Amino acid sequence: MEDCYQGFDPAAYLQTNYTPPLADLERKDSTVPWKLACLHRAFTEGDVSGELLVDIGSGPTLYQVMSGCDVFNKVLLTDFLEVNRQELRSWLQDEGGCSLDWTPYLQHVCKLEGRLLWPLMSFLTVGADCLLSCYCLESVSPDLAASTRALGHIGRLLWPRGHLLLIGTLGMSYYLGAPGVKIPTVPVNEAQVCASLKESGYTLIRL
Ligand SMILES: C[S@@+](CC[C@H](N)C(=O)[O-])C[C@H]1O[C@@H](n2cnc3c(N)ncnc32)[C@H](O)[C@@H]1O
Repeated sequence: MEDCYQGFDPAAYLQTNYTPPLADLERKDSTVPWKLACLHRAFTEGDVSGELLVDIGSGPTLYQVMSGCDVFNKVLLTDFLEVNRQELRSWLQDEGGCSLDWTPYLQHVCKLEGRLLWPLMSFLTVGADCLLSCYCLESVSPDLAASTRALGHIGRLLWPRGHLLLIGTLGMSYYLGAPGVKIPTVPVNEAQVCASLKESGYTLIRL
């Protein structure tokens, strides 16, 4: 899997997956507003809150932690690739040269939350109240067994009774990390996701 990721291009990934036509904040049938609404609900309707939120495999994206920033004091973004970590630093530290301006996403999330301003994130390490991981485990594992093991590993970062929020695609066998760079994905179904969670010691609250 490490070799597969050498061709990952943050700019191309953002362009394909987080700008129109695939990702359109104005269109109700686009997955992006749906994902933001799911995350907003997850972070506001239940008891998912605390000191530290850790996002596993953040990639070059920030949309996934925008609602969580409000209910956690600290947010830790993580990724395997330095190019992705640099992309995130560029935007967060306003260094210029970033491939996507997340402001429209922030504005969308602020609208969902019914407010105008967005608090700044800060960063720390381990002992998480909540783990978040979007499109990561199934796309960094060679098979279902490895993806289930990864679920168990990341769970060790979590305090007892902490929460795990996952977003992924069912039945997907690859995605494009850059034009022509196919990164293989474990094509899981719903029952397999549930079984992996159970095997790794999680209790499923909502699917
Ligand atoms: C499909 S992307 C998901 C990016 C982002 N979370 C999103 O929602 O678009 C998968 C990410 O996992 C990262 N990754 C690969 N191997 C990893 C590992 N062992 N641990 C954490 N992240 C890893 C890749 O660099 C890539 O950014």
